[in-house]
This record gives sequence, structure tokens and C-alpha cells, in this order.
Amino acid sequence: MCGIVGYVGPRVATPLLIDGLKRLEYRGYDSAGVAVMNGKGVDTRRAPGKIVKLEAMLNAEPLVGTLGIAHTRWATHGAPTELNAHPHTSTDKSIAVVHNGIIENATALKARLEASGYVFTSETDTEVLAHLIQEMYTGKLEDAVIRALEHVEGTYGIAVICSKEPDKIVAARKGSPLLIGLGENEYFVASDASAILSYTREVVYLDDGDLAVLDRNGYKILDMSATQLDKAVSRIDWDLGQIERGGYAHFMLKEIFEQPTTIENTMRGRLLPEDGTSKLGGLNLTDEELLFFDNIVITACGTSWHSALIGEHMFEELARIPVEVEYASEFRYRNPIVDERTLCIVMSQSGETADTLAAMREAKRRGARTLGIVNQVGSTIAREADGGIYIHAGPEIGVASTKAFTSQVVALALLTLKVGRLRDLSIMNGRRIVEALQALPGQIQSILDRADEIEQLAEEFKRAQNFLYLGRGYNFPAALEGALKLKEISYIHAEGYPAAEMKHGPIALIDEMMPVVCIAPHDSVFDKIVSNVQEVKARKGKVIAITSQAEPSLVGKIDYEFRIPQTIEMLSPILASVPLQLLAYYIAVKRGSNVDQPRNLAKSVTVE
Ligand code: AGP
Ligand code: GLU
Repeated sequence: MCGIVGYVGPRVATPLLIDGLKRLEYRGYDSAGVAVMNGKGVDTRRAPGKIVKLEAMLNAEPLVGTLGIAHTRWATHGAPTELNAHPHTSTDKSIAVVHNGIIENATALKARLEASGYVFTSETDTEVLAHLIQEMYTGKLEDAVIRALEHVEGTYGIAVICSKEPDKIVAARKGSPLLIGLGENEYFVASDASAILSYTREVVYLDDGDLAVLDRNGYKILDMSATQLDKAVSRIDWDLGQIERGGYAHFMLKEIFEQPTTIENTMRGRLLPEDGTSKLGGLNLTDEELLFFDNIVITACGTSWHSALIGEHMFEELARIPVEVEYASEFRYRNPIVDERTLCIVMSQSGETADTLAAMREAKRRGARTLGIVNQVGSTIAREADGGIYIHAGPEIGVASTKAFTSQVVALALLTLKVGRLRDLSIMNGRRIVEALQALPGQIQSILDRADEIEQLAEEFKRAQNFLYLGRGYNFPAALEGALKLKEISYIHAEGYPAAEMKHGPIALIDEMMPVVCIAPHDSVFDKIVSNVQEVKARKGKVIAITSQAEPSLVGKIDYEFRIPQTIEMLSPILASVPLQLLAYYIAVKRGSNVDQPRNLAKSVTVE
């Protein structure tokens, strides 16, 4: 998704807008633009590529004014060119709009507007909004926006300015996140709090159907019939250091190295070692209610879907409750068997992923109880779910998710403990899990202390064109996640497979050019995976084994080995994932990729 930031107040707007855009750049980064009210009218600058290009353009041709809106784009309609970059202006140039989302009926609206004489200059869906608002304008921008949005189908977070009311910004949301930032005599609009954190911590989150009007004297929130709403002010509790790189070369590396702390934060105050269980205040469910469910459905996308797969193993093994894991994009369009006896768990780092949000709403409609396992505090999923667990991993800026993944798995382990202890899990087994959880931060640190070993491995394999990742049981999802990390940031084709499934097809790919990462900690399926390693070796594949102790049965069968500490089986994918994150990271760096902003991706996908 893209980033939106807007400002009205006493200061010169452009530096604040550019600073905000840079903090949002991880969300979309194919082109960017700014529109400022310059005393005469709306003045815009737009540039394809990264924000530094826009900045260079602004240095050459400055924009001066104290009210403006800005955007960093993740294109859905039309190539990332200057003409397609936002802000888009109306035919008479009086109105400028930035937009995040998709206008689904743009083609029909465009045809009608063109027939009425409006002139289009881009290929985007967004541009219709600018002309439509001009058409509806009769003297009050918020009324024109409300009337225009009545004709629009699709999703949007928008910020709009108009030269006829040069002290006003109007923002509206349906399906794409937006918040208002409250400063001292100055007001912000942003798609994400990180854009404005340097200036204020007081925010008002907009809900779908809300419209905000900001001017030099204050702000108001209206609904779509222009009735004023009373909305709570929230306080952002993270600080600037958390959204800066510190001494690290990339956010991704910083986030990988933060994992001992982030995992600690996920568990903080939630473990009850004596009782061998956990305490999860945000579930909003009594123990009786937790026992009421017949089944669990977990829905998510991407990396969050991988953590859900690990959760499925945990719940079924330890809480003995049937679990289905569904891609959110598939779930929402099926006819899933979900009712009031279903607990629907929704996993999302951002809490804003469009498919995941829609899947959650669908589950709710069918009567299910929803729990969000979310990182971003105050996000839409967190607010709309019936209850949930914040993973408290802190802001994740690297597009490739790392610390959120391990914290999600820890959160699922905490919930499994809770549900398990209410059902079948003995106190002794509960205590064993608590102890293993408590050991995780130190164990992860011991892996991170040996990051240079992985860096050397990356040197060996940086030219590979394909990679296979194999794992079994709890570590099959770890294989999927390892492969996803590599392909996202290094652009090497990589596949994750259940190790034994390899011989039903992918084995045909194996030759001396194929690195095969085998996740083989010492667990209940260890002997089985040794056989799979042998099958790879017999075809001359290069085996990189992630093991947990000296294993005589692997001697002579593997080419490289990285040892992770021994833990209980259900937590082993957490430890196995750390070297795989580092491997992907170092390979990508050595290949010269932009690790934090890999091509074609965006941090949070708020379109279908
Ligand atoms: C992770 O590395 C990805 N960039 C992506 O798969 C991500 O996990 C997915 O888009 C889901 O995001 P969410 O957790 O914010 O919902
Ligand atoms: N659909 C719009 C476009 O392609 C907005 C994309 C975005 O969210 O950045 O320009």
C-alpha cells in the first residue's frame, strides 16, 4: 500500500511532508509527490522512483506553503511514472488528491466525466476522484468529497485540498488506514503513525465511513451524512528510536537482531510458571467461553500464514482441538463452515491487510468469535476483532517480516498453553513449555552471536539460481518461511517443501547446482529427515543442514551445518528461522538488492 501524509499549521509544510514520506517509504516506493497551497493555488511536484528523487526536484524547484499533502505510491493502475504519481489534480487545477486503495468503478466514472469535458492526464484510477470532487464542488470541500464518494465503489484512504479553501484538508477512509495527528496548533493526516511520530503522539484513528476536516483552528470528524462524531484520542506509545535504523545497515538486520528482546516483550507478564499456563488479558473470553469452541480457523497471508501453520500443529497436538489454516484471500470467497462454535484467529503484523480484514469480517458475519494476533497497535484488525493478543514486537519497517514472525509464533504458543491447560495439557507439560519459552531469548542471542558463520555460507551460495528448503512437522512452515524470505529480497527462486514430499516431484530439480536447506533439529521426525537428506545427496544436491546437536547419522551426508540450540519441538521453528532470515539477508546484500525495499513489494497490502 502507499503512504499518505498531510500537514496544516504554522510551519513550512514541505520538509515535514518529505520527512513523513521517508518514514512511510517502506510501504510503497515506486513514485512520490507533494502538493502545497502556495498562496496562489495548488502547486505540485511529482517524481518516479524513490523519495530522494522527489527531494532533489524540490531542491531545484521549492514548494513554499504551510499546508500540503504528500504520497508515496505502490501502483495498482498504470506504470510508476511522473504522470501517474499522486497527487492528482482536477481539470481546473483547483483540487489535489492523494489516494491509497483502488477505485473499482473508475472506468465507468472516467467515461462519464470525459463525456462532460473533464480532461484526464494519467492512467490511474485515482484521477477520477479529483475530477469528480471538482464536479461536486459548490463551495464547501467536505460536502463535495461526501457527494463524490457516494459515486465511488472500492477502497480508499484519501486526503484532498482545494485552492478555493486554502486552509483546509479533507480526509476520508473506507478500507485503507488513516489517522489524524494532533499537534500544537498544527494537524496532520497520515496513513501510518510512523509518518508523524517526530511531531506528535496524539492521534485519532479514523474508521471506515469517517471523514475528517482539518484546518488552522482544529479538526472535526464527520460521518458520510456530515453529522459530527465524537472520537477518542489515542496515544502512540513507541518512540522514534524504534522506527530508525540505529547503527544497522538495514532495518531488516536490526529487526533480526532485536528478536531476543521482541520475544521477551511478547511474553512479558503473560507467563504463569507455577500453573504451567499463560494469562492473556486481551482475549475478552472467560475460561468457560474458551472451552465452548469446537474448532479453530486461522486466517492470514504470507509470513503470517506461515506462523498460522505452526499454530495449527500446536493447537492440535497440545490442546486437541481441530484447526484449519486458510489463506485469507481464499477464505473470504469460499463458503467456509464457520459458526458461533468456531474461534477464528486472524494473524497480521500490520493489522491492515485487506484480504485478512475481509476474511475476519466474513467469519464474524457467520457468527464466529474473532481474535486478532496483531503487531500494530490500534490497527483496523485489532480494533474490529472481538479480542486478541498484541505481539508487541514494535514497529517492523523491513518489508520482509522477521521479528513479527517469531513473535507471532510465541503468541500462538501462549494461546495454545492457555487453551491446552483448560483442556488436556498436564501441569507438568505446561511448565515444560513455559521453561522452554523463557529460554528462547538467550537461545536466539546465541544464534545471532554466530551470524558471521551464516554470512560465510551466504558467500558460498550467493550465485545460486534456485534453492529448496525442506522441513517436516513443525519445521515444514519454517521451510516455507525460509524460502519466502530468500525470494522476497534476493530474487532467487526458492521453494519450501515437506521433506518427504520432495520425492513426489521436486526431486527432479536436484543436481550439483541445487542448494537444499534441510531443517533437521533433533526431534521426533529427525530419523525421517535423515533419509530425505540422503535422497538429496544421492542426486548430488548441496545440503545445508540446520541441526541441533552433533549427529553421527549426518556425518558425510551434508555439505554445511549450522547448529541451533535444542528446544522443545513446538518452538524449534522459531530457532530454525533465525539462521534462515540471516541467510536470506546476507545473500541479498551480497547480490546488491535493496533489502528493506525489495522490488514490486510493499510492507502492507491494503488492496485485494
Ligand atoms: C512477509 O515477508 C511479507 N512481506 C508478506 O508476506 C506479509 O507477511 C503479508 O503481506 C501479510 O502481512 P500482515 O502480516 O501485515 O497481514
Ligand atoms: N490505485 C492507486 C494508483 O494506482 C493508488 C495506489 C496506492 O495505494 O499507492 O495510483
